Amino acid sequence: MLNDIEEVLYDAEQIQRKVRELGEQLSRDFNGRNPLVICVLKGAFIFMADLVKSMSIPLELDFMAVSSYGVSTKSSGVVKIVKDLDTPVEGRDVLIVEDIIDSGLTLSYLIDVLERRNAKSVTVATLFDKPARRTVELEADYTGFTLPDAFVVGYGLDYAEKYRNLPLIGILKPEVYIK
Ligand code: XMP
Ligand code: MG
Repeated sequence: MLNDIEEVLYDAEQIQRKVRELGEQLSRDFNGRNPLVICVLKGAFIFMADLVKSMSIPLELDFMAVSSYGVSTKSSGVVKIVKDLDTPVEGRDVLIVEDIIDSGLTLSYLIDVLERRNAKSVTVATLFDKPARRTVELEADYTGFTLPDAFVVGYGLDYAEKYRNLPLIGILKPEVYIK
């Protein structure tokens, strides 16, 4: 699996340290608000698990799956809810946990959905951000790492459903997907 990685951008230890910092910051900022923490599946599942372990406050979790990408590495621009939340968001302080923001389309769609459902507040925490690729104006409230414009895998992120279990984030060798 590691043979397919051209360059490691952040190793497991660097990611763990950053996620812990974000969790501690979020604990301070959401103290007393019982946030509904929403994991955007599948990519954010590892980040979500590590993040909430560093949050020392009462909170609730839910999961949502959206799709904007097929097996390709380019966004289709179409966002669709594949699995919806089980929890009503009306009146809740919602924290969206995302793996990566690329064009921003997925997130702007999600924020819109949650606001239309009358969430009290919508906050976004993303571990990775590729600001160079934005097509809609949007910024996360909490960002772990800013990445260059390259397709990355690991720490939850996949190429064709593989590499999610790598504990690091790295750039995939182009020959893996240009076939
Ligand atoms: P948008 O363009 O809507 O995309 O901001 C967000 C979603 O696209 C996926 N994505 C990636 N997945 N490596 C991946 O494995 C990448 O470099 C990458 N860039 C975007 C991801 O699912 C994210 O939630
Ligand atoms: Mg993906």
